[in-house]
Amino acid sequence: MKFILNQKIIETNEPLGIPTLDFLRKIGIKGVKESCHEGDCGACMVLLGDLKDNTLVYKATTSCLLPLGEIAGKHLVTIEGLNQNGLNPIQQAFVDTGGTQCGFCTPGIIISLTGFFINSNLEKNDILTAIEGNICRCTGYASIIRATQLLSDHISVVKKSNKERIPTLIDADILPAYFSDISEQLKELKKVPKHNKGTYVAGGTDLFVQNKTLVDPVFLSEMDLSGVWSDKTHIYVGAMTDTESIRTSVELNSVLNIEKHLSKVSSLPIRQKATIGGNIVNASPIGDLTIYFLALDAEISLKFEDKNRIIKLKDFFKGYKMLDLKKGEILEWVRIRKEKKLFSFEKVAKRMHGDIASVNSALSLKLDNKIIREPHLSAGGIGPIPMYLEKTSIFLENKEISSDLIKGAAQITDKEISPIDDVRGSALYKRLLLRQLIYAHFIKLFPEFPELEGLL
Ligand code: FES
Ligand code: FES
Repeated sequence: MKFILNQKIIETNEPLGIPTLDFLRKIGIKGVKESCHEGDCGACMVLLGDLKDNTLVYKATTSCLLPLGEIAGKHLVTIEGLNQNGLNPIQQAFVDTGGTQCGFCTPGIIISLTGFFINSNLEKNDILTAIEGNICRCTGYASIIRATQLLSDHISVVKKSNKERIPTLIDADILPAYFSDISEQLKELKKVPKHNKGTYVAGGTDLFVQNKTLVDPVFLSEMDLSGVWSDKTHIYVGAMTDTESIRTSVELNSVLNIEKHLSKVSSLPIRQKATIGGNIVNASPIGDLTIYFLALDAEISLKFEDKNRIIKLKDFFKGYKMLDLKKGEILEWVRIRKEKKLFSFEKVAKRMHGDIASVNSALSLKLDNKIIREPHLSAGGIGPIPMYLEKTSIFLENKEISSDLIKGAAQITDKEISPIDDVRGSALYKRLLLRQLIYAHFIKLFPEFPELEGLL
């Protein structure tokens, strides 16, 4: 398979399921650093450019979770591909503010910030969001933040349309001149041919943590399964839609405050890679998106050849990593009803971003003259599957909101769940945490009922 590495076409027969990070270091590209190898630190960050409707689109992504086959026919940029004769404005800003010390994290941060300038979806305030997936162990971050403030002078290029952006960034010395030829060169390169035997890879952000190498990956990204759309009654999310596209979807934000909630779900590079389908089918008991959509009483479509069946998401999980998924079926889309509801999502993790929750929970409901209607409560990290809390949801239905009611609901939840002791906390801790998260849902959703604050 072939791809462009910085300004050179590379052809390789290496297995398609190995991490791109390992491949790059093996061929002597040492600007990508290896640290966690789990997508948490950003030391291995690269830019991946692909043609979408004839427009070259780049995203910063962690090369340790990027299988080699995913870069076939694309443009891969490492720090070596951004270097020019002198320092570029991003590199200079780091020198001017003392934003680099040992330098281990610096290539990854420069790549992430280049990703910020090159990405049409990001606004001025997102400059720190762009580096939320990069960890620095030396600087204490204050100097890095000063560097990003200096870079605000270049913000005007972000506002350019896709077509104008790359020439503008070349003029501003943020990108080297060879970027202007990449689009034409990519048209000549082929992607990995489609096949359907092997391990399906959606985003791979958990799969490649569990398996450093996959023998026979099938890249679902090559299938047409992404996007958010709606009809009169429902909003649909394609299974291969990434978390950042869900978070920023105009359609979903018209009925939910999803933008705010999903900023708690990992760092930007992981959100740009992790898909809703991968999150659901991976069946982690703590998957954030799964918990989110369980509380929206979502339905899913499971497709085999040209037939599909629609089931409730809550009925999909049969036991630990056991699914109602027949041989050959793939998850096609997820849908929720197109209606405004009160919605809350809470997550407690050891770090705010880029970390798996100890416990997470979501709640949706309507309030009709103090009476709770159509409540749906879910929680993760407290059982073998992502849990829809059916008994608690039924208990809350058609009752008047009060602190006693919510305390009663939390007691029912306590009987519905079966947490275990693990690295993310003891079973008792998780029980207490979920109780507090349930209280938090109601306190935050109903500031007009100050008596609920007594719950805490
Ligand atoms: Fe840490 Fe890749 S090595 S994110
Ligand atoms: Fe040393 Fe960031 S400068 S890790």
